[in-house]
Amino acid sequence: MSNASATDAAGITPPSQRNPSNRETRRAADRLARKLVRAVVIAVANQKGGSGKTTTILALAGELARRGFRVLVIDCDEQGNATTGLGVPVAKLDNEGTYYLLMDDEAKPADVITPTPHDNISVIAGGEKLSEVTAALASEMGNHTFLSAHVETLRDEFDVILLDTPPALSLLTLNALYAADEIATPINPGVFDLAGIAKLTKTVKRLNTRLNKNIAIAHTFLINFNPRRRNDQDAYGFVKGAFPDALIDTADPQPDREWHGSGVPQSASVNSSQSAGVPLTLYDPRTAVSRAYCRVADVIEQRSLRG
Ligand SMILES: Nc1ncnc2c1ncn2[C@@H]1O[C@H](COP(=O)(O)OP(=O)(O)OP(=O)(O)O)[C@@H](O)[C@H]1O
Ligand SMILES: [Mg+2]
Repeated sequence: MSNASATDAAGITPPSQRNPSNRETRRAADRLARKLVRAVVIAVANQKGGSGKTTTILALAGELARRGFRVLVIDCDEQGNATTGLGVPVAKLDNEGTYYLLMDDEAKPADVITPTPHDNISVIAGGEKLSEVTAALASEMGNHTFLSAHVETLRDEFDVILLDTPPALSLLTLNALYAADEIATPINPGVFDLAGIAKLTKTVKRLNTRLNKNIAIAHTFLINFNPRRRNDQDAYGFVKGAFPDALIDTADPQPDREWHGSGVPQSASVNSSQSAGVPLTLYDPRTAVSRAYCRVADVIEQRSLRG
């Protein structure tokens, strides 16, 4: 995605001619340029349950919001973990936002966008009622496009829209993938998790061919990763072979290090931040796990959010 023409048209100095005095100035200029283009929509997906999808949504939402991007999280999961993880209690909402958007022909996203306690982060809540959607919409024409239609109306209000998906290939997952521009996939280094990747790849292929939806796994990275474990290094090699351009090495570049790949480490602060309803990267930005997620955010910002 290029910002150049929109930037030029608005009379903003193109990036190549800017001489930013510091990082913040550069970011402010990037943000200004981004406001002239439409939000990037990223679905975090992996059909394997418990693979760090929601943790990734929360960590990325926190870090991208801290950098000044306007972030909307759409929780497409009946577990509602992305909603509560942002400090928004599902039970206190009058309606469950994503359910309402999918089920009510008159629904308007503005009615269900909920502010969170965190600057620059809003959420459309998930929750239990989403379990009714797949059966209720089974015979509706174009039922995979319902979320996409709403997301399109929100692209001018946000810089990045993150879609949290459930663990199976339900109609909810399909709606999220169809609404997205790209997919981010966290992967555990276990053998079953690696096998699950084939399933997601097949789903993506089907979206490409059967629904004519041009989408790919654009970003992937290992989680619960220990670089000194042989199995984890093997897993890194496997994922590198499958997604050579998408795999993110979460360590800062260190040419002399003895191992050749890195991922997000395991940490008790993941669970503590989720209990506190605060995105991991805001809860404790100094931990190794937060720094790894910041590196993921760096790469996503570079690849997808800047021109
Ligand atoms: N890096 C990590 N360190 C420690 N615990 C983690 C880490 N990443 C995820 N977890 C924990 O693993 C569990 C599963 O993570 P998460 O809920 O993010 O997965 P998910 O893919 O969203 O699951 P589901 O498929 O059920 O939606 C959670 O209890 C979470 O706190
Ligand atoms: Mg989840």
